[in-house]
Amino acid sequence: MGRPWLGSGLMDVLIHIFVGLHIIGIASLLGGFLTQMKAMGAGTARFVPAMLHGALTMLVTGVVLVGLNQAQDYSVDNIKIGVKLALLIVILGLVYVKRDEEKVDKGVFGLVGLLTVANIFIAVLWT
Ligand code: HEM
Repeated sequence: MGRPWLGSGLMDVLIHIFVGLHIIGIASLLGGFLTQMKAMGAGTARFVPAMLHGALTMLVTGVVLVGLNQAQDYSVDNIKIGVKLALLIVILGLVYVKRDEEKVDKGVFGLVGLLTVANIFIAVLWT
């Protein structure tokens, strides 16, 4: 009760804030994708700005999270993070390159959604 964060250390609070920002990034990237799913079926989906900004947010907050966790000597699973980073680079590359295309191919668009969902489950299932 009261002020539970007082005992947890400012660095830990900072880590949790960045996890929160990381989740906002997921919301933006995945949410943008979900709004386009009907259009994707028709082959008229586009990478909305929310997806680009979400992908960029994932990269920045993810890198900061690695740094903050290492600064605290918390263990970071380098293989897990490496896989997430690799998938995100594919996502970011595709979304960035095709950001101005008014119609994105169904397969490419679907791949970005698939890789995003894959990263979510890697994050929560990889122990
Ligand atoms: C689409 C891309 C990504 C998704 C969907 C994603 C998802 C998540 C989720 C759901 C969490 C919280 C789960 C937990 O704490 O167990 C998390 C934590 C974290 N993410 Fe990501 N992430 C992505 C990209 C990245 C990238 C590119 C990096 C680093 C370069 C990164 C680094 C981290 C770190 C260090 C944590 C906290 C420690 C951990 O739980 O592994 N993430 N991510």
